[in-house]
Amino acid sequence: MIAPIGGFFERHDPEDAAVGASVLETWTGGRAWAGFVNARSAFAALVESLPGVTIWLPAYVCSDLVDPSFAGRVRFYPVGEGFVPDLAGVEAGMAAGDLVLVVAYFGEPVAEAVEAFARRRPDQRIVEDRAQALHPGPAAEDRWVLYSPRKLLGVADGGVLVAPAGASTVPQPSGLADRAALWRAADLRHDDPAGRDNAVWHAANRDKEAAMAVTAQAMTARSLSILSRTSLESLAGPRRANWRVLDRRLRRWSALPGETQAPPLGYVIRLEPEERDRVLRGLHAERIFAAVHWPQIAAPAADFPREHGWTRELITLPCDHRYGAVEMARVAERVEALLA
Ligand SMILES: Cc1ncc(COP(=O)(O)O)c(C=O)c1O
Repeated sequence: MIAPIGGFFERHDPEDAAVGASVLETWTGGRAWAGFVNARSAFAALVESLPGVTIWLPAYVCSDLVDPSFAGRVRFYPVGEGFVPDLAGVEAGMAAGDLVLVVAYFGEPVAEAVEAFARRRPDQRIVEDRAQALHPGPAAEDRWVLYSPRKLLGVADGGVLVAPAGASTVPQPSGLADRAALWRAADLRHDDPAGRDNAVWHAANRDKEAAMAVTAQAMTARSLSILSRTSLESLAGPRRANWRVLDRRLRRWSALPGETQAPPLGYVIRLEPEERDRVLRGLHAERIFAAVHWPQIAAPAADFPREHGWTRELITLPCDHRYGAVEMARVAERVEALLA
């Protein structure tokens, strides 16, 4: 039986002799921070601390981020080709102190358009959402930063909110999450490397994700411990190398312009909707668990047709640290075969 490739992360066992800065050190970099059970809760806590301000979100972002408690304050801005945000409407319509969320899409640094906007409008608050990004580079000093570690390595939960440099207070969680419920799927998969009980751990993870909600709960101590004992480079290096293996064979379908130094979320391809669905089904049938970021977005389809188009066109192929050249060759070969 060939082991599955991709999908949610089994529990990560950090190496004994980790080299270089840990994931947690790299992300927090001496700034004030808070660890919630997931990123949507961390974001909702930040929003709650800013009553009355307008929340500007990219039209291309996962729908889980928007909580009903602040949905009435949300306005969307468009995202153009290449996943470049168009902030002209924000700049024209915003008031001083508004909260503007920008996404480090697929692990890449945020577009230069964001940096230019930040320089022109120092009166805003920017949150850089790095839920898909392991380390696109040091975060700008004036910026809030958000991470969702379970999308990137084998922890069951977590939403890390990092304050701008010099800020001393960050909204903090209160209360503990249900550790056993959160960790069940990651432990089951960890104990089943060949994937014999695939259906069991897949169902456990689906249930866990379905139960994810906006709460004040803290990240589990176990996730925190893994983040502080895992070296960032041990994850980043393999991601970059694997991405290159896929790029050598799949470039013609790539949704992104080219290589950067940032460790990627996955290898993102863009296809016609029907072909996308067919390729995704074909890969899943062979237990290559490619993902879709995102099948649902919060912005209304009528106002944002391009962004809605991406929900039907994109596939994120796995290229994370669990795999090497052999698995990547298999992924590339299967994608080529399905598109032949
Ligand atoms: C860009 C982005 N931000 C935030 C979130 C929410 O993260 P969490 O599931 O940890 O609440 C997601 C979820 O997919 C996401 O893709």
